[in-house]
Amino acid sequence: ADAILVAPASADFLARLTQGRADDLLSAICLASDVPLAMAPAMNTRMWQNAATQQNARTLLARGVLMLGPDEGEQACGETGAGRLQAPEVLLAGLAELFQSGVLSGKTVMVTAGPTREAVDAVRYLSNHSSGKMGFSVAEAAVEAGARVILVCGPVGLSTPDHLQRLNVVTAQEMFDTVMAHIQGVDIFIATAAVADYRPVEVATGKTKKKAERIQLELEPTPDILAEVKARFPRLFCVGFAAETESLDEYAQDKLQRKGVEMIAANWVGPAATDTEGAFGSDTNALRLFWKDGESELPLASKDKLARQLILQIAQLEEMQGQHTIDDDKVVSLPA
Ligand code: C5P
Repeated sequence: ADAILVAPASADFLARLTQGRADDLLSAICLASDVPLAMAPAMNTRMWQNAATQQNARTLLARGVLMLGPDEGEQACGETGAGRLQAPEVLLAGLAELFQSGVLSGKTVMVTAGPTREAVDAVRYLSNHSSGKMGFSVAEAAVEAGARVILVCGPVGLSTPDHLQRLNVVTAQEMFDTVMAHIQGVDIFIATAAVADYRPVEVATGKTKKKAERIQLELEPTPDILAEVKARFPRLFCVGFAAETESLDEYAQDKLQRKGVEMIAANWVGPAATDTEGAFGSDTNALRLFWKDGESELPLASKDKLARQLILQIAQLEEMQGQHTIDDDKVVSLPA
């Protein structure tokens, strides 16, 4: 285990831990372990307020034990006050703080995530299977690493992680405009979004009726957000994603050169994916990372775990390259 959380931690257990007892399994494990310890106190409110318990809690805190709670409110015994077990999500968030690396503290990170939708007519659109999970995991990992995070996302069914700014968009053009409107002050740009590459040239205002046997849809390219960000802000540390069904390494290397970005995170999608679910929508993934003079492999793992590893790699590389926050004097003006 990387940490021990005792939830609920009774008044008796806090006393036993304070004394360093080892006469049952839990106290023995806690005494014999050198991983971080967290307590979620839960007891009758008078037991919590008792001077002995308060003294024990202070002693444990002073020894570096993390105290998560207790919460206040109605208790099982019928009394009201401090002593309730904290909600599981609060415990989880508190525990996660133990692992915050701080490698991106002071940095601002922008992440694009999810698919975009390009309207065909009033009721139809072109899109893809991106769930946004990888991007959300990356954004959360950046928050955990201490960064200020702006998450620009297409239509996804995911709840907003804590402590970040979420900006919702629908089309590639909206994503482009939103990214450009908020890019000042960003240190690291991570493009995980599966942006539609083409959109219909004309969008019917009403619903197109079924008439002809075959119809043709004329498409035009959407703006390449990542390439444009890199072109406008050459000193911004940019990371692109490459989801491929074949020739993963070659396409990733090609993208690294063509878009001029600092790193490409490549993964298989479709039938070739290592994961039977094929990356899109799945909770797991595997990544190959490519940068100018190196590469590394992040084997199949949960997207949360991968995202943390990716953020570490990005932080190391960014530190090595000594990139700086963009400001006006570094902005390259492009011809309109
Ligand atoms: O060129 P390709 O679509 O294969 O490149 C993928 C990378 O570029 C991803 O990081 C994706 O988020 C980004 N991208 C973008 N805007 C587009 C197309 C792709 O930012 N219009």
